[in-house]
Amino acid sequence: MLSYRHSFHAGNFADVLKHIVLIKILEHLCKKDKPFCCIDTHAGPGKYQLNSDFALKNKEFENGIGRLWQQEDLPDGLASYINVLKHFNTKGQLNCYPGSPLIIRHFLRNRDRLFLHELHSTEIDLLNTVIGNDRRIKVAHSDGLKNAVSLLPPVQHRGIVLIDPSYEIKSDYQLVVDTLIQMYKRFPAGTYALWYPVVERQRNQQLEQAIKASSLKNVQLFELGITADTQEHGMTASGMIVINPPWALATEMQHTLPWLARTLGLDGTELYRIETLVSE
Ligand SMILES: C[S@@+](CC[C@H](N)C(=O)[O-])C[C@H]1O[C@@H](n2cnc3c(N)ncnc32)[C@H](O)[C@@H]1O
Repeated sequence: MLSYRHSFHAGNFADVLKHIVLIKILEHLCKKDKPFCCIDTHAGPGKYQLNSDFALKNKEFENGIGRLWQQEDLPDGLASYINVLKHFNTKGQLNCYPGSPLIIRHFLRNRDRLFLHELHSTEIDLLNTVIGNDRRIKVAHSDGLKNAVSLLPPVQHRGIVLIDPSYEIKSDYQLVVDTLIQMYKRFPAGTYALWYPVVERQRNQQLEQAIKASSLKNVQLFELGITADTQEHGMTASGMIVINPPWALATEMQHTLPWLARTLGLDGTELYRIETLVSE
């Protein structure tokens, strides 16, 4: 049974990095008129109210989007992320944090398509309400990892698969790699963005090793840590592993990530990583 609710964490430092990278990939796909397909394997409820009891329980957003929202002199690399946030908060106050389904929908054009998956029985109802009736989007109450494989390759022959699990089950670390390998075999030209938390560094090392030893090619990693690794305080860092990233992504992140680490870091031990895990 699933117990994870992303509403407790929406807008935290991990969401900031995840959604910045997602938006950069979507902007790249929008540069061509040719339609694209987007598959979100772990959609969540779609959007989050930052004044809800969930968000206010630990106020994780305060050390994420909360620190950036009022900031002047943001680096250029953050402009499109903040613009998306402004679209959902038109009165200048930060109340709503869009989840990946709404962020992706923001970029969809008439002929683009989006497949959303969510397994949690409460979250799927919320997601259906948020998405409503949109002929470009299909919402499925199903296992996103299993279903996404069967959707590939998409008829558009271009697109992104976002994989954003909660890693409630430790075997998820291996499952995501096995699934990525199956997806890549069916659609080697696709872009894949895998989010990961750093809770026990050893698990991340195993994940990276499994990717390096696989058939996957052209893999980059972007990580933001707000404090040094520890096994005592839960998630201290998180990252996105991107297969077939837009060519300019790494350069853009070279400008953005150091600033984000300095701005969101807690105690001077913050870190960031930009690495090529597997070359082209
Ligand atoms: C980290 S949250 C997703 C957040 C969302 N992607 C965003 O950026 O706003 C992970 C979600 O995946 C759901 N989930 C867990 N396992 C799943 C699976 N196998 N298939 C689909 N959804 C799943 C959980 O219920 C949870 O809502």
